[in-house]
Amino acid sequence: MRDAIIETLAYRPRGATVAEIAQGVSERIGPTPPSSIRSYLRLNTPKLFTKIDRGHYVVREEAQVTLPFTDRQNDYRLVVTPPREAFRFGNATLIHGDCFEWLANAQTNSIEAVVTDPPYGLVEYSEEEQAKLRAGRGGVWRIPPSFDGNKRSPLPRFTVLSRDDIGDLERFFFSWTRLLFPVVVPGAHVLIASNPLLSFVVANAVTRAGFERRGEIIRLTMTMRGGDRPKAAHTEFAEVSVMPRSMWEPWLIFRKPIEGRVQDNLRRWKTGGFRRPSKDQPFGDVIASAPTRKVERVLAPHPSLKPQAFLRKIVRAVLPLGEGTILDPFAGAGSTLAAAEALGYNSIGIEKDSRYFDVARLAIPKLRALKPS
Ligand SMILES: C[S@@+](CC[C@H](N)C(=O)[O-])C[C@H]1O[C@@H](n2cnc3c(N)ncnc32)[C@H](O)[C@@H]1O
Repeated sequence: MRDAIIETLAYRPRGATVAEIAQGVSERIGPTPPSSIRSYLRLNTPKLFTKIDRGHYVVREEAQVTLPFTDRQNDYRLVVTPPREAFRFGNATLIHGDCFEWLANAQTNSIEAVVTDPPYGLVEYSEEEQAKLRAGRGGVWRIPPSFDGNKRSPLPRFTVLSRDDIGDLERFFFSWTRLLFPVVVPGAHVLIASNPLLSFVVANAVTRAGFERRGEIIRLTMTMRGGDRPKAAHTEFAEVSVMPRSMWEPWLIFRKPIEGRVQDNLRRWKTGGFRRPSKDQPFGDVIASAPTRKVERVLAPHPSLKPQAFLRKIVRAVLPLGEGTILDPFAGAGSTLAAAEALGYNSIGIEKDSRYFDVARLAIPKLRALKPS
């Protein structure tokens, strides 16, 4: 009962009445009369729940629950933190919550495209690693070497992932895209930021979940990864680079299978292709992109912030007719939502970390107002 009530309230930031909670609980654990809900709420208020105005209840922020969750093939344990709130700006909605939980409850065929930059290390956005990043000490985040005296942004170290971690990563992407599959419409494109070391893991998981692989966009940019000489032996092996200096970032392209021909799918679902930059120019898969500008990093301090100029190009392209809603389930500082807003598209973002949710709330209107470089 406790878990079912918390789950019902998890995505109702403005609270729900006893009748609404009873309905949600009945859907989850079978018929439950409002009288049982009322007594449970009475017993556990204010420990777990707060009564706000007009008989509405919300979950207290500190109440967290781990829900067992099976997506038919995998057991997945979700730690659900009730969202503190949702933020709306223009046609953008940012929800503070866990995207797995949000997707599990989202309406079927309600999203026309996804543009997202997910976490890769699985641990890099854990409380522990975020604390180390914020303190600037140790952990999986490292500061790339400075050649020119300029301060560099920290990058997560993907090379520390073990075989088991890679297995976990595959399961993470599989569970996530299994949940995503019914939520997007046929022909919806899903663009996922990746890196050359781990993109094969993502591609495997996402296609296993039912999506078609449709190539990748190469974001040409200096990433500051690789290129270094062997550690502690750089004078001995002065002419060696252990790995190539990476100058591109893959954005993997997937599509939910279309219904009928592309033209049929475009008419019915408004999806299935890409919007051209202009009538005479096809959408291409190599996009030159400078690293995220300082002005953006100051407005939206997030270690993985993507640049507006690049995002606006791909966000524009994923709605072939310029109609529909774009989802970013790992919204970070809200850069995808800001790009969608700049283009006049509808968008929804989910961000789990309350600090980044707060950053995004302030950053979206400001990023949206920037002129692309
Ligand atoms: C790589 S960052 C995205 C940064 C974003 N591209 C930007 O420009 O700001 C991934 C984000 O996903 C968030 N996150 C991780 N797991 C999540 C989950 N299950 N649900 C929602 N957000 C999650 C992290 O807190 C982090 O801010």
